[in-house]
Amino acid sequence: MTQNLKGKSILLIISGGIAAYKSLELIRLLKKAGCTVRCILTKGGEQFVTPLSVSALCEQEALTEDTYKMDHIHLSRTADAIVIAPASANIIAQIAHGLAQDLATTALLAADKPALIAPAMNHKMWHNPATQANIATLQSRGHTIIGPEEGDMACGERGLGRMSQPEDILKAVLSNIPTFQHSNILKGRKALITSGPTLEPLDPVRFIGNRSSGKQGHAIATALAAHGADVTLVTGPVALPDPLGIKTIHIETAQEMLNACKNALNTKETVDIAVCAAAVSDWSPTKLQDHKIKKRSGKTPPSIALKENPDILKTLSTHKNRPMLVIGFAAETENLAKNAADKLKRKKCDWILANLVGQTGQKTFGEDQNHVYLITSSKTQDWKPMSKTAIAARLSEEIANHFETKAIQDAAE
Ligand code: C5P
Repeated sequence: MTQNLKGKSILLIISGGIAAYKSLELIRLLKKAGCTVRCILTKGGEQFVTPLSVSALCEQEALTEDTYKMDHIHLSRTADAIVIAPASANIIAQIAHGLAQDLATTALLAADKPALIAPAMNHKMWHNPATQANIATLQSRGHTIIGPEEGDMACGERGLGRMSQPEDILKAVLSNIPTFQHSNILKGRKALITSGPTLEPLDPVRFIGNRSSGKQGHAIATALAAHGADVTLVTGPVALPDPLGIKTIHIETAQEMLNACKNALNTKETVDIAVCAAAVSDWSPTKLQDHKIKKRSGKTPPSIALKENPDILKTLSTHKNRPMLVIGFAAETENLAKNAADKLKRKKCDWILANLVGQTGQKTFGEDQNHVYLITSSKTQDWKPMSKTAIAARLSEEIANHFETKAIQDAAE
């Protein structure tokens, strides 16, 4: 299970709390899984575990307020994942408010990726509305909160606030690591991603829409950016936060999504990659009513005339500034390979990620898991069921390989 962690670098921040002793076990587990672990001990953390024991387990010097140098704040950029365990109420408040008062908070403010945060504190501190508001802020910015757990506390009270077990923190690192895998392999490449649903208004308060969560499209944008691409994300309304460091354009209708995509293609810089992951509404009402359509009891309900929406994927595939690699999605209820291959031709795109929908247990929309097939003009690959972040990581690697192979071929010609 820990195979995915081999060779990964983890930045572990240990802040003040009795649970800091469990972080020594976490370091041991991470090392056993093949990670390199760099550790920052805050002043508070140093009260509970010594730099010497942390350094011995990490097999490299623990960074403290007294030992750090300027370039240590960049550690958060080179790490594959940042873990804060234990995270005290104080460090949580500092991160939520963007304070940079010591090495740990400065490194976090300078980070280019969200962190995995394992809170540990007294249960009243945890339930305090200030802490809860800070946690909500951090979640809305894409940070992952692990735990806390219920149990006896060092102060003699009992409640929710104990740090999660090191094994559970390790599992959280494992399931989040694909998002953070990064390289510079797509540096200099521009990518355009569509994500989420489109909403087509009927009147000032009603619309036609769908249940797309945007999870897949947002994960692809994050994964491509993690490989160094300059990413523009065009998204319909979703409950997800804008991914860190990605230019995000918010739209509502298919027409607005199309306009935003065309604008992105009509700049001086070439767009190299387009991934259309949005669930674009196929139709929109022919007429947007100026006023709310009245319910007229006893009368026939109004009929809604629809017109077809523009096909964004096809428009991008046939645009004069067509991106070199255009990728679409296909949700099929039967004959997956054949229908997806037909769609590839019809939409004139290069690759299709296809999945079967509508069968028992395969909801896809809003779920964290998906089962896709990569279909190109020359191959069909079954990617087996995996998380949407793992699909995004695999797709970005396929894209990076594609451009690398192309660069080698171009050099040989
Ligand atoms: O035709 P269908 O909706 O099955 O095609 C799915 C693919 O086409 C997805 O990649 C989706 O983002 C894209 N699409 C689009 N504009 C539309 C309809 C679908 O970009 N109007």
